[in-house]
Amino acid sequence: MKFFRTLSELRGAHDLPQKLQRLGDFAAALERHESVEFDTEAPVVPLGPPSYSAICKIVHGSEVPRRRNLGSGEGRIIFLHALAHIEYSAIDLALDSAYRFRDMPPQFYEDWLNVALDEARHFAMLQSLLGELGSGYGALPVHTGIHDAMVRSEDSLRRRMVAAHRHLEANGLDAHPELARKMSLFDDPMAERIRDALKIIFDDEIAHVAAGDFWYRYACTLDGSNPEDFAADIEMAIPGTKIGGKKNLNLDARRRAGFSEHDLAVMSRPVA
Ligand SMILES: [Fe+2]
Ligand SMILES: [Fe+2]
Repeated sequence: MKFFRTLSELRGAHDLPQKLQRLGDFAAALERHESVEFDTEAPVVPLGPPSYSAICKIVHGSEVPRRRNLGSGEGRIIFLHALAHIEYSAIDLALDSAYRFRDMPPQFYEDWLNVALDEARHFAMLQSLLGELGSGYGALPVHTGIHDAMVRSEDSLRRRMVAAHRHLEANGLDAHPELARKMSLFDDPMAERIRDALKIIFDDEIAHVAAGDFWYRYACTLDGSNPEDFAADIEMAIPGTKIGGKKNLNLDARRRAGFSEHDLAVMSRPVA
């Protein structure tokens, strides 16, 4: 089995059960050290359209359905679909980072493959909740926010790590407490299961952000840049993002994921 070629095939795959199955098989083969060849000569190809373009209708971010009422089946479908889309995109993001950046220490590839496996588990969990509500991934339109950030960071390890793996993933940590609170207003069994799913995802995401933080700092040591100067990379990968002015920073989770007090101060200071 060829390592980099398999990563690129998995990232491009869009048959959902097959993609998840193959990813699990690949990770298990690696775990058993089964004839995996590190085909470092495999070409690094620029990202094409996202793999989910074969599954979902793609629309502008402003046209994605907005959830209103988490107490209704429809509101929950919209919410779970949006989350499933983030998890699905995160599978491809982790696979792409392991595929694209070569000559890194073995731990780098291990970390992103483990993240891809976590994201696949999160996605499968949400997909099954959607199924119980009579829906499924692909039923609603999606936007390409994460994919766009991947494209705008495909030529820079440092930008990819800080913008996609640290910044975007950490936004999920900030969102969790309020979502958990809103879901706690309902005491039906489905609400409880959604809360449980959110908690599992939240706990795992801290480690993902920590990996993003670790490899961002590593990338900075490679090119001699200052890890405190992260704003420009994020603005380049995600145009229009405001650094600063964040009122809902989950300080505890972000500290556990490696953010420094300086980083947190930059993100929370008022913006003009
Ligand atoms: Fe996730
Ligand atoms: Fe994640």
